Amino acid sequence: MSVTHHEATKHSFWSVRKNPNFLDWSKQPIPFKIYGDYPLVPLDLDAPLGKCIYYLGGINAKKSYPGVEYYLRTVPSAGALYPTEIYIQMRGMEDFADGIYHFDVANAGLRLLYPLQADEGVEIALRDRRKVEGCIVLFSSIYYRSSWKYKNRAFRYCLLDAGHAQGALEMSTQIFEHAYTLHYDFDKALLNEKFGFRDREFFLSLAIVGRRKAERVQRLGIELPFVDGTGNFEPNETIEAAYHETMGLQSCRPMLRHPRFTFMKERLEEAIMKRRSIREFSAQPIKKEQLAFILEAMRQPIPSDCDDKVRIWYVINRVEGMQCGLYLDGELIKAGDFRQKAGYLCLEQALGSESAVTFFLTSGARNYQPLYLKAGHIGHRCYIASEYLGIGCSGIGAYYDDEVREFLGTQDMVLYALAIGK
Ligand SMILES: Cc1cc2nc3c(=O)[nH]c(=O)nc-3n(C[C@H](O)[C@H](O)[C@H](O)COP(=O)(O)O)c2cc1C
Repeated sequence: MSVTHHEATKHSFWSVRKNPNFLDWSKQPIPFKIYGDYPLVPLDLDAPLGKCIYYLGGINAKKSYPGVEYYLRTVPSAGALYPTEIYIQMRGMEDFADGIYHFDVANAGLRLLYPLQADEGVEIALRDRRKVEGCIVLFSSIYYRSSWKYKNRAFRYCLLDAGHAQGALEMSTQIFEHAYTLHYDFDKALLNEKFGFRDREFFLSLAIVGRRKAERVQRLGIELPFVDGTGNFEPNETIEAAYHETMGLQSCRPMLRHPRFTFMKERLEEAIMKRRSIREFSAQPIKKEQLAFILEAMRQPIPSDCDDKVRIWYVINRVEGMQCGLYLDGELIKAGDFRQKAGYLCLEQALGSESAVTFFLTSGARNYQPLYLKAGHIGHRCYIASEYLGIGCSGIGAYYDDEVREFLGTQDMVLYALAIGK
């Protein structure tokens, strides 16, 4: 099964040489969207809800270079470009008036965009319109932040990055012992319009963290003005078309089971706030039990209204007591030393060869947006479970698509790669 956009954005040995990416620094987008005319409610980081929201994508490190400062977040992002934005509808929550808020990452707070009347809500976009008492977290993407650098392939990264944000929400709900369910099947076009996105930003998914009531929402009066979240903008018609073409869903099967993790809360919170991408491995092995722990976390169900199978392949390069080779679902598919091969496949990045394990996530399913978001979500679990154990991890969005498929021996689309190790 192939999706047109996916086919058209494959990297190959020749494509990256024929079309090297040049960056126009005068068009660099800003990574923050600020609704400056709306009231800011600062997040109280000593309160559970404040922390819970901060963990979704708040700043957790600052890097300074001569003349520039930039900020890193609890979520990773391809090229540190941060296309994901987060909106939260709150109903019946302590300390927050009922309303729709935007997570203002730069100012560590929520901006109240729209106070809600009792009969209103974003549930209007869900098929059954049933009211949610609690939170609805909406994930959107401002694609130019990523397409500035990655051109057409950026749509994949927008999806992966938003998947990481979903994964971050999952970790927050773990700490605060709430359940969540993801929804992909909602009227995104309606909400894009009501939020004034003008095709420059688009909704991808939402998570319900709360109780669904029998009562239905009647309307949603919000009509937001367009707010620029890039500072510079250049349209990319291919990405806009890809978004619209992949918006419709087919034969969705819901996943009703919830994940079970064995994280200890305090250590998990530390891992969330410390998480970074490893930039270089020292080629040390990891333990078999550590890989088992990380795989266990990655394989947990993701409750949603549209769950497609994502396969987790992995090349073992350096794991004590385990044979080197390519594995799928715990089974050795082919034995051998594939270190160099794994690095080559990841666009010749040393991360792929010096890792203890290099993962490839693939799928043969049709629902492109949900399954790509799922790959990012699984990737986030990989990061957090690794950080929790003191093991390094990096997402790898750049790989030679068809050569990876050939190596794995699959017709699946290759969605994402990740490397873990020391
Ligand atoms: C979807 C995705 C793709 C990425 N691809 C690569 C990659 O190909 N090579 C690489 O070195 N890092 C890659 N990264 C890591 C980012 O560069 C990193 O997340 C970003 O610089 C922010 O740093 P931090 O993760 O330490 O906060 C990727 C991250 C994500 C989320």
